Amino acid sequence: MTKQDVINQILGKNKSSDYYGTVTAFAPVNIALIKYWGKRNEILNLPVTDSLSISLTNLGTTTELSVNNNKDTVFLNDKKIDEHSDFFNRIVNFVDLFRPDPEFYFTVKTKNDIPTNAGLASSASGFCALTNALNKLFSWNLDHQHMSIIARLGSGSACRSIENGFVYWHAGKQQDGMDSYGETLSYKWSELTIGILTVSDKPKVISSRKAMSLTSKTSLLYKNWSERISHDLKSLLGSLKEKDMKRFGEITESNALSMHATMLDTKPPILYWLPETVQYMREIWNLRENGISVYFTIDAGPNIKLIFDKKDSNTIKKYFPEVKLINIW
Ligand code: PMV
Repeated sequence: MTKQDVINQILGKNKSSDYYGTVTAFAPVNIALIKYWGKRNEILNLPVTDSLSISLTNLGTTTELSVNNNKDTVFLNDKKIDEHSDFFNRIVNFVDLFRPDPEFYFTVKTKNDIPTNAGLASSASGFCALTNALNKLFSWNLDHQHMSIIARLGSGSACRSIENGFVYWHAGKQQDGMDSYGETLSYKWSELTIGILTVSDKPKVISSRKAMSLTSKTSLLYKNWSERISHDLKSLLGSLKEKDMKRFGEITESNALSMHATMLDTKPPILYWLPETVQYMREIWNLRENGISVYFTIDAGPNIKLIFDKKDSNTIKKYFPEVKLINIW
């Protein structure tokens, strides 16, 4: 089964319908609370396990999409992207799936509110914004479930950026992945606050695609990953229901650390952290020992996302003046 088969299944004859001149679309960054790490199908980005994230509402990617009759052109943050770069190729490979005829070219102008490719989920918001833009350009009028499936074909975690708030990504069982998409959960938790501590905005040392493939092939710790995820998801949903910050924070942090433990156990080892990452981790643990309820999560990069109660915002700002606080609700 190819990506094109999935697209044909979703769009049918709708694919090459009329299009508008220029459209603009947005999608938020999403931060995984229970991580996606490892694929059951590397072509369709189908995950081994379910995962759960929170979207950062106003922080994400805005993409302008139009059509030209010359050649595909990609801009990132107002800069024209080199046609031989990975970034260009990933985008062109994706829009290829929707090209009505070979003479039909796209101009993609994309802007990120966050550093690109630094483990801050820019590819998630990026591919989701592009999917939203394609949906507008071709007037597909797709529902969120189908949009989520299309966004997943660009980057796995992009399927969770289709919604705001808490989003649950069903791993699904089907070979074509039609049951693998992000679904919004009804929980609202206005006190829950996220803060970003940027350690580095440089591109990550190894792509998450390569890293998760190596981990699942070589890490012995990874053998327990599915079991670990089932346990953590159950506990996290319980803590969400009760708005229990301590339990919620502990599970989120521990889940991130266990993902990084499987990376360390990979041959050769994968380490996204920098010395400043570890320094922040120690400061956070130290604050907790002193009664301040703050937790963290880390993705495929060195940057830290803090999790805490809104009422502690001033305390957090005092200890981390450089923190970027996110308005989720
Ligand atoms: O969707 P990708 O290939 O960017 O992988 C995302 C992997 C993590 O961010 C580390 C975890 C997750 O669930 O988002």
